[in-house]
Amino acid sequence: MKHLAEENIAEKKIGLRVDLNVPIKNGEILNDERLSAALPTIQFILERTNKLCIISHLGRPEEGKFDKNYSLDPIKKWLEDKLEVSIPLIKNFTEVPDSLSIMENIRFFKGEKSNDQELTSIISESFDVYVMDAFATAHRSSSSTYGAIIKSKKACSGLLFSKEIKNLDAALVSSKNALSVVGGSKVSTKLKVIQNLLTRSSKVLVGGGIANTFLKAAGKNIGSSLVEDDMLSVSQKLLATNKIILPTHVYVADSPEANSAQLVSVDNVAADKMILDIELSNEISSIGNIDYVLWNGPLGVFEIDLFSNGTQQLISCLEETSAKVIAGGGETIFAISKFSHKNKFHYVSTAGGAFLEYLSGHKLPSVEALRLK
Ligand code: 3PG
Repeated sequence: MKHLAEENIAEKKIGLRVDLNVPIKNGEILNDERLSAALPTIQFILERTNKLCIISHLGRPEEGKFDKNYSLDPIKKWLEDKLEVSIPLIKNFTEVPDSLSIMENIRFFKGEKSNDQELTSIISESFDVYVMDAFATAHRSSSSTYGAIIKSKKACSGLLFSKEIKNLDAALVSSKNALSVVGGSKVSTKLKVIQNLLTRSSKVLVGGGIANTFLKAAGKNIGSSLVEDDMLSVSQKLLATNKIILPTHVYVADSPEANSAQLVSVDNVAADKMILDIELSNEISSIGNIDYVLWNGPLGVFEIDLFSNGTQQLISCLEETSAKVIAGGGETIFAISKFSHKNKFHYVSTAGGAFLEYLSGHKLPSVEALRLK
């Protein structure tokens, strides 16, 4: 894969695909971590050429029309503030100036999602070099990602993209002493991730609703907890690897709306109670020597403080460990921003869906396209 640092971009016209898809409410940016993560590549390019057009999507607007709610205007203002320059927000590839600009939401363009060849040609022919830095969108085969990389005369990965791949690969290949932690609500959505991580980690600790299904598959009574009965048999097969660590103690309540929770052994869950969180102290002390930890998915209903114990315990433990911790995924990033005070993780990916796809062992279209360049 060709990296930005290896490409001669001096005075060249650059199209930079970044992922500036951040939560915005009433024009206010609620979390700017992805924007900050995109800055080093923008600055790197601007030090060599100011003929830079920044391209991103925001949300999932209807294609083919402008929708103010999905305009990149608040992001343009954020960038202007950080870069201390004014940046025109342009609406068409015929308007790309020979100076810094930002393209309006690329998902307003008809054909972006389906990798329409006409749009792909328009994008790729607008620039001398196309820089792909949107790792969080690398799993989408759209015109401005996969399509433009393939069609551009020259394309390379940006600094963030390269950093993401380097860190994820390091954790995925250094399997000997790696622990994976997989939470979230459903085994079905994480099945491929768990299967792949079982081949690359010494142990896989499960939490969240996923743990309920595994506990039931292991013969435990899980009361009225969320469970996927159609995943029981595959869960039993995964348990037979003897690499899955199940919680031994859990927090139960009548419902997620309850005002209190009880800590019980997984052998004592009453028929009318739901498991909504896990207690991690036993599991943490039994983990042993680990070089890498890969974490995706909260371990309980962490949005509700009462059921955020397992997720918080995990974050504290990961902040103290000498192991390299790589975390990612939408809810995981949110949990870290909510509960981590030390910012001591080795690497937190900016990606949600793309992170999961990568952990599943799937080939990401934009990664493959860049490897062909
Ligand atoms: C994300 O937030 O995961 C990326 O920006 C991709 O967004 P999408 O799921 O709407 O393609």
